[in-house]
Amino acid sequence: MSRITVIGVGYVGLVTAVCLAELGHDVTAMDIDTAKIDGLKAGEVPIYEPGLTELIAKNRDRLSFTTDPVEAYASGEFIFVCVDTPPTYSGDADLSRIWSVIENLPPEDGERILIVKSTVPVGTGAAIKVTLAQRGYEHIRYCSNPEFLREGSAIHDFLHPDRVVVGADDAPTRDKVGALYEPLHAPIVKTSVPSAEMIKYASNAFLATKISFINEIANVCEQTGADVRTVAQGMGLDERIGPHFLQAGIGYGGSCFPKDVSALKQLAGNSGYHFQLLTAVIEVNELQKRRVIGKLKRLLGPELRGKHIALLGLAFKPNTDDVREASSIVLAGRLLAEGAHVVAHDPIAMEHIRGMLPSVILAADPYEALEEADAAVLVTEWPEYLELDWERARDLMAQPLVVDGRNSLDGEALARLGFVYEGVGTAAPEDVGTATPGGDDMNTSPSHRVVMD
Ligand SMILES: NC(=O)c1ccc[n+]([C@@H]2O[C@H](COP(=O)([O-])OP(=O)(O)OC[C@H]3O[C@@H](n4cnc5c(N)ncnc54)[C@H](O)[C@@H]3O)[C@@H](O)[C@H]2O)c1
Repeated sequence: MSRITVIGVGYVGLVTAVCLAELGHDVTAMDIDTAKIDGLKAGEVPIYEPGLTELIAKNRDRLSFTTDPVEAYASGEFIFVCVDTPPTYSGDADLSRIWSVIENLPPEDGERILIVKSTVPVGTGAAIKVTLAQRGYEHIRYCSNPEFLREGSAIHDFLHPDRVVVGADDAPTRDKVGALYEPLHAPIVKTSVPSAEMIKYASNAFLATKISFINEIANVCEQTGADVRTVAQGMGLDERIGPHFLQAGIGYGGSCFPKDVSALKQLAGNSGYHFQLLTAVIEVNELQKRRVIGKLKRLLGPELRGKHIALLGLAFKPNTDDVREASSIVLAGRLLAEGAHVVAHDPIAMEHIRGMLPSVILAADPYEALEEADAAVLVTEWPEYLELDWERARDLMAQPLVVDGRNSLDGEALARLGFVYEGVGTAAPEDVGTATPGGDDMNTSPSHRVVMD
């Protein structure tokens, strides 16, 4: 078993540290955020991630936390860098935290492998290697090992990856880093540093493209009477397409897709190539978040001033408290600009939004948010909203109107309760009754519910 240093204990770093400890390694995790480290030492977990608290407790003996670089680098052949790489105003990736880590690497004291898990533009590894060589840090080898975990299922994703990507110039470095992942029995893609860096960006950009594509299909469905859920199901059964990431909604968000798509677009532009497709993907996503406003105006009248709109969900997706680039922020901002009275609820993300949108009223529970509401907008498909007592909700609301931004509610059931229900790309009742080989009617599967107008 190895001694491992992890730099940065955010969503990726903390999960990486804990999962490597779970695999039997001794891990020292370091962060510059004193409050985070003090909390972790006291057993407090700074982020919400299912199973994380339990896994930290289970591996307590193999995990230590520090703010002291000397302690962090005291031992350990492997140094995992998991610091944030947020977008700059230009849309490029801000690598200042990465470079700050490079500045403070320990001088000659044995062989080390610097493993960058943070998402960085192609060429970053090459630039770091030049800097290390200029400083005479021949004892540090470089490896690009991008992370693909998803918030909300991060531990499962780390321990059961579809693939592990290991990029390094020399085979021994690739093999040593690859060996750390062998217990996970996943395909290990051993490649060059630039290819590893590009695999991460290309993967996220492709997934974002799928989302914007199906959202545009949904928008055309609304004009033409088709139902995007059946369309997506019919498309996804084609093995060349696959069923994933074909869920129409009010746009992608989170700390990865928006910034990574933008960084890849900038990377292409900076190297002289105009990546037209990504420009459209970004624009479609921005417009998609705003389409809810148009729907509310159509249903409530052109004037939203004074209307009470309840937002159900603030996190960019369920099972996380992350609100970075969440659709809720744009939506709430637009509604406030229209003069609407916005009341929001989220099971765990409310604290994170308090400072960002002070004019949004935060409700203690979803029913409180729905009291006297002219419309409810499902922004995040948290299970508790799907299981809401919608009869009670209807009685609390001023008007029984639901805009389902995630196509996750049972529109037919809501219509039976007297709601006006509006999904994304689900404007017309479906008449498709294709039978699956097993005899199940497609219309009866939970992912395909007929929507009443
Ligand atoms: N969040 C995700 O789902 C996800 C998935 C895959 C890849 N990534 C990538 O992983 C990287 C980290 O993302 P995240 O969401 O974990 O970020 P995060 O903001 O949650 O955590 C980053 C942590 O790094 C710390 N940090 C910053 N500078 C530091 C320094 N010089 N020394 C020590 N600690 C420092 C911060 O205090 C913070 O705790 C990003 O590049 C991101 O794009 C994120």
